[in-house]
Amino acid sequence: MATKIVGLGMYAPPKKLTNHDLEKLVETNDTWITERTGIKSRRIAELGTANSDLGLLAAQKALADAGVRADEIDLIVVGTCTPDMPLPSTACFLQMKLGARNAFAMDVNAACSGFLYALSTADALIRAGRGRKALVLGSEILSSVTDYTDRATCILFGDGAGAAVLAECSDGDGILSCHLHSDGNLWELIHCPGGGTVNPLTPDLISRRMIYIRMMGNETFKHAVTKMGEVALKALSQNGYKIDDVALFIPHQANLRIVGSVGKRLGVPPERVFVNLERYGNTSAASIPIALAEAKAQGRFRSGDLVLLVAFGAGLTWGSVLMRM
Ligand code: UT7
Repeated sequence: MATKIVGLGMYAPPKKLTNHDLEKLVETNDTWITERTGIKSRRIAELGTANSDLGLLAAQKALADAGVRADEIDLIVVGTCTPDMPLPSTACFLQMKLGARNAFAMDVNAACSGFLYALSTADALIRAGRGRKALVLGSEILSSVTDYTDRATCILFGDGAGAAVLAECSDGDGILSCHLHSDGNLWELIHCPGGGTVNPLTPDLISRRMIYIRMMGNETFKHAVTKMGEVALKALSQNGYKIDDVALFIPHQANLRIVGSVGKRLGVPPERVFVNLERYGNTSAASIPIALAEAKAQGRFRSGDLVLLVAFGAGLTWGSVLMRM
């Protein structure tokens, strides 16, 4: 018994934050941002929008694409690090809004690797017989934890959601492997210090801007290139494939230079690497499912094609999923 993605959907809020808009907020410029990141614009949710509101719109599209009703879903797994509330889970809010009354629901926090962790969790639960159809999301409102006075980070992040319907399959297609890794020793490279139990929310904490993401960009960059390259090769070697067998490579959309370096290491031609970060920036857990949904809409893969997903994020966490569509 294996599992297969049978429906995809994405949603990004309409409001755009361009490089020129950022020039008015911090000391930066379009040329620097474009050359160093490849990002031109990001989508930003209106203040007070719930993560599950974005997730709902992506999930509805994925269900329609799959031809599956909400009450046929057995489990919902949402990859996110920007939940609606500390509790209950965003997945439970999504269940309520969808009317997915037969599902059990939970969040997975693996930051930018969140969708691959969520997908791997749902795949394992279905294989273990805990359900037959899952709704798997990566959904984030990163603007809620972005410091718009810090030019090193505010140029990177955007909001959005992507969703996949995962179902049992027995035709030999679907998810061929999931490889997940973490290294908590490197937590300091990307973290959001305030608001949890270590630094509970206080007015002082807010005034010291400790509720926002902090990142050591340069160090993170090096780890991202190494780890994503390694875990992509692991997926290929375990399954007995070469990079030439892969129809489409979808890396986490963090930075065009990271994507380029990983692609070069793997020897994958640029036309087989999916990139949309110029329009959305880094949407953390949402980046891969948004890319998958767009790739499907653009006809970038066909039924039977091999697609390789690779992610990297805070934790540190990283992983790969190889699947036959
Ligand atoms: O989602 C997964 C986790 N995140 C990532 O994977 C992100 C990984 N890191 C990156 O994408 C890059 O490190 C950044 C885009 C964040 C930064 O690019 P960089 O090439 O590593 O730049 P840098 O941090 O080494 O900074 C180079 C210079 C510095 O000036 P000095 O010290 O050389 O005078 C910065 O102060 O660029 C300066 N700088 C900026 N200049 C204009 C930093 N941010 C900006 C900015 N505009 N926005």
